[in-house]
Amino acid sequence: MIGSSDYSASEGESISAMFRCLFGGYLYYTLATAALADDRVLQGFDLARELCARCHVIGDYNRLGGIGNSPSFQWMVKADDWRERFDSFYARRPHPVFVRMAGYDKWSDADPYYPPFTITVEEIKLISIYVATLSLPGEK
Ligand code: HEC
Repeated sequence: MIGSSDYSASEGESISAMFRCLFGGYLYYTLATAALADDRVLQGFDLARELCARCHVIGDYNRLGGIGNSPSFQWMVKADDWRERFDSFYARRPHPVFVRMAGYDKWSDADPYYPPFTITVEEIKLISIYVATLSLPGEK
């Protein structure tokens, strides 16, 4: 015979298990639809986090981060020509001082005030795929 206190304890456990299960399912669904379904989004996010997040807010990841004079990615993605701007960001100030395109000569001899990095056309595409997700409803 199960005492009433045992009963409520096990009921509590099964409710919390149910919530864990629901939450896990929701999380899985969100990740599966938003990211894992297209792991280029994740790769783009990783690149943005590694290369851009120090100056730019790149979404919820660092909503309060970035440096004051850099526009946030979620703000820039609202511009009609955002793809063009991202595709050529390395040629737009201030980036030429610290960004090099793989296979191209360095085009500035100015002292980089930021640790220089090299980026490829493919990596820029991945970042754009991630940035596009910031324009989805609820992501702004
Ligand atoms: C050292 C700081 C720094 C880093 C790192 C950096 N940016 Fe920027 N970026 C800026 C600043 C500052 C501006 C604003 C320039 C302006 O308004 O004149 C900017 C502007 C931009 C713009 C708009 C350019 C235009 O002319 O419309 C794009 C697109 C951009 N950044 C993309 C990137 C991407 C992608 C990365 C990472 C691969 C990155 N940035 C890394 C500082 C940075």
